[in-house]
Amino acid sequence: MWEFTASLRFDARLAPDDIAGSRAHVAGLRRAGLLTDGEAKILSAALTRVEEELAGGSFAFKPGDEDIHTAIERRVTELAGDTGAKLHAGRSRNDQVATDLRLYAKRALAEVVAGVLGLQRVLHDRAKVAARDQVYLPGYTHLQRAQPVLLAHHLLAHGWALGRDVDRLLDCRTRLDVSPLGAGALAGSSLPLDPRPTAEDLGFEGVFENSLDAVSDRDFVAEALFGLALLGVHLSRLGEEVVLWASAEFGFLHLDDAWATGSSMLPQKKNPDIAELVRAKSGRLIGHLTGFLATLKGLPLAYNRDLQEDKEPLFDAVDQVVAGLAALAGLLETATFDADRMAAAADGADASAVDLTEWLVTRGTPFRAAYMIVAGLVRDAAERHVPLAELVTAHPSLGPEAVALLEPGVSVTRRTSPGGAGPRPVKDQLERFRAHLATTEERLSHL
Ligand code: ARG
Repeated sequence: MWEFTASLRFDARLAPDDIAGSRAHVAGLRRAGLLTDGEAKILSAALTRVEEELAGGSFAFKPGDEDIHTAIERRVTELAGDTGAKLHAGRSRNDQVATDLRLYAKRALAEVVAGVLGLQRVLHDRAKVAARDQVYLPGYTHLQRAQPVLLAHHLLAHGWALGRDVDRLLDCRTRLDVSPLGAGALAGSSLPLDPRPTAEDLGFEGVFENSLDAVSDRDFVAEALFGLALLGVHLSRLGEEVVLWASAEFGFLHLDDAWATGSSMLPQKKNPDIAELVRAKSGRLIGHLTGFLATLKGLPLAYNRDLQEDKEPLFDAVDQVVAGLAALAGLLETATFDADRMAAAADGADASAVDLTEWLVTRGTPFRAAYMIVAGLVRDAAERHVPLAELVTAHPSLGPEAVALLEPGVSVTRRTSPGGAGPRPVKDQLERFRAHLATTEERLSHL
């Protein structure tokens, strides 16, 4: 039964948060006159000692330590005797664990955002160089070549998706920044404790309004799991493109040896395992979210032991995402883009079909009519095995001037509208992306 119910195995990582929470509670007990100055000092010294033992690895866990909260209180009592036994007055593990997990989530989400920023920086740096060199590739819809786009544009598309992850995770972090300490087991306390200064001591922005809600609310875990799952989905989509692009069929990307893996049997193999694992982990992250929502569903107020199941999914989601972000950043930082392969794939004459159409539109042809003309030419060229350029030159509404649009590398330069895939808008976009990175850096520096 013990093995089944104890949580020490995974909640030991809340130790720093539990120490912080206990320190704030000691200060609260002192303010309430429930501890003398001397007793508060003894407890603080004991907590410092426990903190050192835990950090140095000399903390001796005992078989009766059910979770990190009981382990720390047990040790404080060993060190401080009767004074140690005063620590838990007015507090329950229910408000304690809720407090600890919020403190953990605050630092964990900041760490995740720092990791996202690291990957965004790599995307930005690669995009900047690719924009300077005017590297372009086919843009796809339905995984069919559609229109050429700058590589910088493609990389920044992933960068902006990650930007929304940053917003979402920091937004979640703001909402969870509320202290539950002082809610007790579920109803508060008869002791003259004030949760407000305790919340302030712990660096929380707010304090609970309702003790039942305070001990049973795990919305922040579900929200964080969603933010991490969606971030994981974004990483998985990026990972899938790395896998595709690194294949011989695409040949757009060459992985650095240090960030690729070999095969145990095939000597020639260089595999994109990082990208594949990132792609796979998103499944696990989605599982954590749906699993935990199912755990929460139907729980009556207030604390139920079911809530102990909040920690493993959250810890694992944070760990997987932080590791995946760093791995993907390293892979992308060191990979080589094959600009020639990309250009060759993008330079098919068909890629300029829409440019021909728009050329006609600017000369007064209604779009649908222009579309029919160009579609007819593209079809003819394919069926009769003649170069499209020949048909365009011969066409009365097009002619030699329009043929210039079919030259390699021309099409992408014609994506001039704001937010578009050509050099001019991408230059502006890069600047705005840099501003976004600076804002995130600034936000992180305040956490
Ligand atoms: N280990 C428990 C958890 O993580 C701590 C709270 C236990 N509270 C209780 N009343 N049994 O949720």
